[in-house]
Amino acid sequence: MTNASSGGDQQWFEAIYNGAQNQTNNIPWADLRPNPFLLEWLETTAPDTLNKSAVVVGCGLGDDAEELARRGYSVTAFDVSATAVDWCRQRFPDSKVRYVQADLFKLPSDWQFDFVLEINTVQAIPVAVRRDVINAIARLVAPSGTLLAIGRLAKSSEQQVRRPWPLTRDELHYYDEAGLSEVRFETYGDMEISALSLVRFQVTYQK
Ligand SMILES: C[S@@+](CC[C@H](N)C(=O)[O-])C[C@H]1O[C@@H](n2cnc3c(N)ncnc32)[C@H](O)[C@@H]1O
Repeated sequence: MTNASSGGDQQWFEAIYNGAQNQTNNIPWADLRPNPFLLEWLETTAPDTLNKSAVVVGCGLGDDAEELARRGYSVTAFDVSATAVDWCRQRFPDSKVRYVQADLFKLPSDWQFDFVLEINTVQAIPVAVRRDVINAIARLVAPSGTLLAIGRLAKSSEQQVRRPWPLTRDELHYYDEAGLSEVRFETYGDMEISALSLVRFQVTYQK
Protein backbone atom coordinates (compact mmCIF):
# COMPACT_ATOMS: atom_id res chain seq x y z
CA MET A 1 0.00 0.00 0.00
CA THR A 2 1.35 3.43 -0.83
CA ASN A 3 1.02 6.34 1.51
CA ALA A 4 0.00 9.56 -0.21
CA SER A 5 1.42 11.75 2.57
CA SER A 6 4.90 10.29 2.18
CA GLY A 7 5.19 10.26 -1.57
CA GLY A 8 4.59 6.53 -1.42
CA ASP A 9 8.16 5.56 -2.13
CA GLN A 10 9.23 3.76 1.03
CA GLN A 11 9.45 0.59 -1.02
CA TRP A 12 11.97 2.28 -3.29
CA PHE A 13 14.43 2.33 -0.38
CA GLU A 14 13.64 -1.18 0.80
CA ALA A 15 14.26 -2.44 -2.74
CA ILE A 16 17.72 -0.83 -2.77
CA TYR A 17 18.74 -2.33 0.59
CA ASN A 18 17.20 -5.69 -0.18
CA GLY A 19 18.64 -5.82 -3.68
CA ALA A 20 22.13 -5.03 -2.34
CA GLN A 21 22.39 -8.59 -1.04
CA ASN A 22 24.42 -7.61 1.99
CA GLN A 23 27.09 -5.85 -0.11
CA THR A 24 27.61 -2.37 1.31
CA ASN A 25 29.16 -1.12 -1.94
CA ASN A 26 25.74 -1.60 -3.57
CA ILE A 27 24.29 1.16 -1.36
CA PRO A 28 25.13 4.41 -3.16
CA TRP A 29 25.07 6.61 -0.01
CA ALA A 30 26.87 4.22 2.37
CA ASP A 31 30.28 5.60 3.36
CA LEU A 32 30.73 3.18 6.27
CA ARG A 33 31.99 6.00 8.47
CA PRO A 34 30.38 8.89 10.32
CA ASN A 35 29.55 11.90 8.17
CA PRO A 36 32.53 14.33 8.27
CA PHE A 37 30.25 17.38 8.74
CA LEU A 38 28.68 15.66 11.75
CA LEU A 39 32.15 15.04 13.19
CA GLU A 40 33.08 18.67 12.66
CA TRP A 41 29.84 19.77 14.33
CA LEU A 42 30.44 17.50 17.32
CA GLU A 43 34.01 18.80 17.70
CA THR A 44 33.10 22.49 17.49
CA THR A 45 29.85 22.31 19.45
CA ALA A 46 30.99 19.83 22.09
CA PRO A 47 27.39 19.07 23.13
CA ASP A 48 26.59 17.85 26.61
CA THR A 49 25.58 14.23 26.00
CA LEU A 50 25.15 13.10 29.60
CA ASN A 51 21.65 11.68 30.05
CA LYS A 52 20.70 13.16 26.68
CA SER A 53 18.65 11.34 24.09
CA ALA A 54 19.29 11.47 20.36
CA VAL A 55 17.49 10.20 17.30
CA VAL A 56 18.88 9.57 13.82
CA VAL A 57 16.30 10.00 11.06
CA GLY A 58 16.75 7.62 8.12
CA CYS A 59 19.80 6.02 9.74
CA GLY A 60 20.90 3.95 6.74
CA LEU A 61 23.67 1.58 7.77
CA GLY A 62 24.12 3.15 11.21
CA ASP A 63 27.54 4.83 11.26
CA ASP A 64 26.24 8.22 12.44
CA ALA A 65 24.09 6.59 15.13
CA GLU A 66 27.10 4.63 16.40
CA GLU A 67 29.16 7.83 16.56
CA LEU A 68 26.50 9.57 18.67
CA ALA A 69 26.32 6.57 21.01
CA ARG A 70 30.13 6.53 21.26
CA ARG A 71 29.95 10.16 22.38
CA GLY A 72 27.50 9.38 25.16
CA TYR A 73 24.03 9.99 23.76
CA SER A 74 21.29 7.48 24.39
CA VAL A 75 20.47 6.84 20.74
CA THR A 76 17.39 5.71 18.82
CA ALA A 77 17.98 5.28 15.10
CA PHE A 78 15.21 4.50 12.67
CA ASP A 79 14.81 3.77 9.02
CA VAL A 80 11.81 2.90 6.87
CA SER A 81 13.73 -0.05 5.42
CA ALA A 82 13.55 -3.20 7.57
CA THR A 83 16.58 -4.56 5.71
CA ALA A 84 18.62 -1.47 6.58
CA VAL A 85 17.69 -1.81 10.25
CA ASP A 86 18.59 -5.53 10.30
CA TRP A 87 21.84 -4.66 8.59
CA CYS A 88 22.71 -2.11 11.32
CA ARG A 89 22.09 -4.76 13.97
CA GLN A 90 24.34 -7.18 12.07
CA ARG A 91 27.11 -4.65 11.57
CA PHE A 92 27.06 -3.53 15.22
CA PRO A 93 26.03 -6.58 17.26
CA ASP A 94 27.17 -5.03 20.56
CA SER A 95 25.65 -1.64 19.84
CA LYS A 96 23.98 0.46 22.50
CA VAL A 97 21.85 2.08 19.77
CA ARG A 98 18.16 1.19 19.66
CA TYR A 99 17.60 0.47 15.96
CA VAL A 100 13.94 0.63 14.91
CA GLN A 101 12.12 0.08 11.63
CA ALA A 102 9.81 3.07 11.41
CA ASP A 103 8.32 5.42 8.84
CA LEU A 104 8.95 9.08 9.49
CA PHE A 105 5.32 9.74 8.56
CA LYS A 106 3.94 7.33 11.15
CA LEU A 107 6.06 7.81 14.23
CA PRO A 108 4.76 7.41 17.78
CA SER A 109 3.39 10.79 18.85
CA ASP A 110 5.42 10.75 22.09
CA TRP A 111 8.81 10.50 20.35
CA GLN A 112 10.85 13.53 21.41
CA PHE A 113 14.62 13.79 21.71
CA ASP A 114 17.24 16.22 22.97
CA PHE A 115 19.19 15.90 19.73
CA VAL A 116 17.75 15.13 16.30
CA LEU A 117 20.07 14.29 13.42
CA GLU A 118 18.98 14.29 9.78
CA ILE A 119 21.57 13.64 7.07
CA ASN A 120 20.65 13.36 3.38
CA THR A 121 17.20 11.90 4.09
CA VAL A 122 14.93 14.90 3.40
CA GLN A 123 16.52 15.33 -0.02
CA ALA A 124 15.90 11.66 -0.82
CA ILE A 125 12.11 12.03 -0.37
CA PRO A 126 10.05 13.70 -3.13
CA VAL A 127 9.79 17.48 -3.10
CA ALA A 128 5.99 17.27 -3.23
CA VAL A 129 5.93 16.24 0.44
CA ARG A 130 8.84 18.35 1.64
CA ARG A 131 6.88 20.42 4.13
CA ASP A 132 5.36 17.24 5.61
CA VAL A 133 8.80 15.65 5.91
CA ILE A 134 10.22 18.71 7.66
CA ASN A 135 7.23 19.01 9.99
CA ALA A 136 7.60 15.35 10.96
CA ILE A 137 11.29 15.87 11.78
CA ALA A 138 10.67 19.12 13.67
CA ARG A 139 8.10 17.34 15.87
CA LEU A 140 10.88 15.04 17.14
CA VAL A 141 12.74 17.91 18.82
CA ALA A 142 12.07 18.09 22.57
CA PRO A 143 11.70 21.46 24.31
CA SER A 144 15.19 23.07 24.44
CA GLY A 145 16.38 20.37 22.04
CA THR A 146 18.66 20.72 19.02
CA LEU A 147 18.33 19.62 15.41
CA LEU A 148 21.24 19.23 13.03
CA ALA A 149 20.38 18.82 9.35
CA ILE A 150 22.95 18.17 6.65
CA GLY A 151 22.36 17.87 2.92
CA ARG A 152 22.63 19.45 -0.48
CA LEU A 153 21.44 22.98 -1.13
CA ALA A 154 19.72 24.06 -4.35
CA LYS A 155 20.06 27.62 -5.59
CA SER A 156 16.53 27.31 -6.93
CA SER A 157 13.85 24.71 -7.52
CA GLU A 158 15.21 24.33 -11.07
CA GLN A 159 18.02 22.26 -9.56
CA GLN A 160 15.55 19.78 -8.09
CA VAL A 161 15.56 17.63 -11.17
CA ARG A 162 16.20 14.14 -9.84
CA ARG A 163 16.72 12.23 -6.62
CA PRO A 164 18.39 13.39 -4.43
CA TRP A 165 16.33 16.58 -4.73
CA PRO A 166 18.45 19.26 -2.98
CA LEU A 167 16.74 21.64 -0.55
CA THR A 168 16.22 25.31 -1.29
CA ARG A 169 16.82 27.93 1.40
CA ASP A 170 13.07 28.65 1.35
CA GLU A 171 12.30 25.00 2.12
CA LEU A 172 14.69 25.08 5.07
CA HIS A 173 12.52 27.85 6.52
CA TYR A 174 9.78 25.25 7.00
CA TYR A 175 11.75 24.28 10.12
CA ASP A 176 11.34 27.82 11.48
CA GLU A 177 7.66 27.72 10.62
CA ALA A 178 7.44 24.46 12.58
CA GLY A 179 8.61 26.25 15.72
CA LEU A 180 12.40 25.90 15.58
CA SER A 181 14.97 28.71 15.54
CA GLU A 182 17.97 28.62 13.25
CA VAL A 183 21.21 29.13 15.19
CA ARG A 184 23.86 28.23 12.63
CA PHE A 185 23.86 27.84 8.86
CA GLU A 186 26.89 27.05 6.74
CA THR A 187 27.58 25.94 3.22
CA TYR A 188 30.61 24.15 1.91
CA GLY A 189 32.04 25.05 -1.49
CA ASP A 190 30.87 24.12 -4.91
CA MET A 191 31.18 20.39 -5.04
CA GLU A 192 30.03 19.78 -8.59
CA ILE A 193 27.51 17.26 -7.35
CA SER A 194 25.60 15.71 -10.23
CA ALA A 195 27.01 18.37 -12.55
CA LEU A 196 24.60 20.87 -10.93
CA SER A 197 27.23 22.82 -9.00
CA LEU A 198 25.38 22.32 -5.73
CA VAL A 199 26.80 23.16 -2.33
CA ARG A 200 26.41 21.16 0.84
CA PHE A 201 24.76 22.78 3.84
CA GLN A 202 24.75 22.22 7.54
CA VAL A 203 22.09 23.91 9.65
CA THR A 204 21.43 23.84 13.38
CA TYR A 205 18.10 24.68 15.00
CA GLN A 206 16.98 24.97 18.56
CA LYS A 207 13.57 24.68 20.13
C1 LIG B 1 20.00 8.88 1.14
S1 LIG B 1 19.76 7.77 2.44
C2 LIG B 1 20.74 8.51 3.73
C3 LIG B 1 21.07 7.54 4.83
C4 LIG B 1 21.94 8.12 5.95
N1 LIG B 1 21.25 9.17 6.68
C5 LIG B 1 23.24 8.60 5.40
O1 LIG B 1 23.51 9.82 5.48
O2 LIG B 1 24.01 7.77 4.90
C6 LIG B 1 18.09 8.11 2.98
C7 LIG B 1 17.62 7.14 4.05
O3 LIG B 1 16.33 7.53 4.50
C8 LIG B 1 15.52 6.38 4.62
N2 LIG B 1 14.12 6.82 4.46
C9 LIG B 1 13.50 7.22 3.34
N3 LIG B 1 12.21 7.52 3.57
C10 LIG B 1 12.02 7.32 4.90
C11 LIG B 1 10.89 7.43 5.76
N4 LIG B 1 9.71 7.83 5.29
N5 LIG B 1 11.04 7.14 7.06
C12 LIG B 1 12.25 6.73 7.55
N6 LIG B 1 13.35 6.59 6.79
C13 LIG B 1 13.24 6.88 5.48
C14 LIG B 1 16.00 5.46 3.50
O4 LIG B 1 15.66 4.12 3.68
C15 LIG B 1 17.52 5.71 3.55
O5 LIG B 1 18.17 4.85 4.44
